[in-house]
Amino acid sequence: MKPEELKQLIKEKYGKIAEQNTEEKSCCCSSSCCGSEVDYTVFSEDYKNKEGYNPDADMNLGCGIPTDYAGIKKGDHVLDLGSGAGNDCFVARAIVGETGKVTGLDMTEQMIRKAKENCAKLGFTNVEFIPGDIENMPFEKDLFNVVISNCVLNLVPDKSKAFAEIFRVLKPGGHFCVSDVVIKGRLSEKMLKDAEMYAGCVSGASEMNEYLKIIEDSGFVNIKVHKQKEIKLPESLLSEYNDPNELKLYRVGDTGIFSITVSTFKPK
Ligand SMILES: C[S@@+](CC[C@H](N)C(=O)[O-])C[C@H]1O[C@@H](n2cnc3c(N)ncnc32)[C@H](O)[C@@H]1O
Repeated sequence: MKPEELKQLIKEKYGKIAEQNTEEKSCCCSSSCCGSEVDYTVFSEDYKNKEGYNPDADMNLGCGIPTDYAGIKKGDHVLDLGSGAGNDCFVARAIVGETGKVTGLDMTEQMIRKAKENCAKLGFTNVEFIPGDIENMPFEKDLFNVVISNCVLNLVPDKSKAFAEIFRVLKPGGHFCVSDVVIKGRLSEKMLKDAEMYAGCVSGASEMNEYLKIIEDSGFVNIKVHKQKEIKLPESLLSEYNDPNELKLYRVGDTGIFSITVSTFKPK
């Protein structure tokens, strides 16, 4: 599939998720309510005790809590990439306070709309949601103190471009912290090629060492992996995408799907 086709597919999937009402969101997408069998929520963490948490913005679409390791300070200008309904933006807002600013960027129109509605209900004037693509951000260089992102970069076809863009928009000495899905070892071709799995955050994920190498090659320093959590896939799903031999290798080796939270700095 071409990158633009993949992006279109992602917009359609997340557009549908954004349009569900609050009651529906807990059932989706493990059931067929999105017209899909993919479970987008297997990676998500519990945000309920986080300051700034807003249940309307929490669609269980994250795979970590990047604000925990992002070193955000009062007064910072924070950019959240793939901000969805605004979950991490509102947590970041609680840290930056009145004097800071939070910008959410997302390419799915319906997500931007939902995030703006959530923001209007909260009455924040220093949180904004901007439509746009992470591979070509609509921001000038050296603008943000901190960039965060939660379970998004695995969906971006050109990760080198994404990290180069993060580097460009961060101030010198600024830093980023992302939670993302990565793969250790190799997953079967069948699994990787499946577009549904891709939108479920697996098939577009990079091998972990390659992912960290892209970050390093983009010019970042002090790369730290704070958290790694293996995602246990159900037996039925594994057998659907792997033949018995592949399944055996999957079980004995280091191979697996992990959510990781990584932080790093742009040199001064
Ligand atoms: C798995 S959801 C995560 C949403 C949010 N970070 C959260 O934790 O609730 C992925 C989000 O990233 C957005 N996205 C994916 N690829 C993108 C891209 N290239 N540029 C901007 N947004 C993108 C999708 O529209 C979707 O809202």
